[in-house]
Amino acid sequence: MNASPQTAIHIQSLTSLEDFESCVVLQLEVWRYSDADIVPRRVFVVAQRIGGQVLGAFDGEILVGFAMSLPGYRDGKSYLHSYMLAVLPQYRNAGIGRRLKLAQRDDAIARGFDLMEWTFDPLEIKNSHLNISRLGTIVRRYHPDFYGVSSSPLQGGLPTDRLYAEWWLRSRHVADLLRGEPQPQQIVERITVPHTIYQWKQDAQQRNLARTLQSNNRTALEAAFQRGLAVVGYERDPQGNGTFLLGPWKNTVEI
Ligand SMILES: CC(C)(COP(=O)(O)OP(=O)(O)OC[C@H]1O[C@@H](n2cnc3c(N)ncnc32)[C@H](O)[C@@H]1OP(=O)(O)O)[C@@H](O)C(=O)NCCC(=O)NCCS
Repeated sequence: MNASPQTAIHIQSLTSLEDFESCVVLQLEVWRYSDADIVPRRVFVVAQRIGGQVLGAFDGEILVGFAMSLPGYRDGKSYLHSYMLAVLPQYRNAGIGRRLKLAQRDDAIARGFDLMEWTFDPLEIKNSHLNISRLGTIVRRYHPDFYGVSSSPLQGGLPTDRLYAEWWLRSRHVADLLRGEPQPQQIVERITVPHTIYQWKQDAQQRNLARTLQSNNRTALEAAFQRGLAVVGYERDPQGNGTFLLGPWKNTVEI
């Protein structure tokens, strides 16, 4: 990593049009979207103005990462839907993504929210690890082809299947995990994503392997959720394979 020492990275709320423009530029560098998929500056403006969040991570004056969320409403309750999290490639794996999420959590709690959600690709082992093992989200919902076709090469031409991460911000589950003392969970099912998935997605010759895995894991995850199970943990092995750990979940998830 070429980044300055982590202590030099500071995180702050973004409010200016220039900063929102920098988010758009960073977004393009990270996802390489076509014009049709790009989230324009005006959406960042709206997010910041209507009770969402736009947070930036800076190395000096340079924006090296951001998190953006929008306010949501379901079943009579407000929550935050975190729509984008991005860190420049040369600054990754130094804890900046996690710090942006923790700053989102602090801000959300200060403003009275109990829940933040976001969607993520179940084939992304790194993101699954960050979301489930490092932040303490749980997962009980699967949405096939959430966005429809995506122009991002990260998607590798596959359907944009997404899991919903639920981050119960004040829950004991999250607080214990963030303190480094996660509660033991009962695990009754495991669903694995091999580390070769990244190569399969990027290589046209092997893309069918990725499609088959996505389809098999979709079936397995949807069936498990229907039986009332939730993703309550995630494991990585030394080869880099990732495994969803599923178990029963108490109804009072937010406690
Ligand atoms: C997802 C993203 C924001 C994470 O940012 P980051 O600053 O690298 O994240 P962190 O350093 O806080 O955490 C990364 C974790 O993944 C781990 N990791 C890195 N590569 C991994 C891999 N191939 N498999 C599994 N885990 C991996 C790191 O070790 C770290 O875990 P640790 O804290 O237990 O050591 C960044 O990778 C990114 O911009 N990706 C592209 C856009 C994207 O996918 N956004 C999220 C979905 S909207």
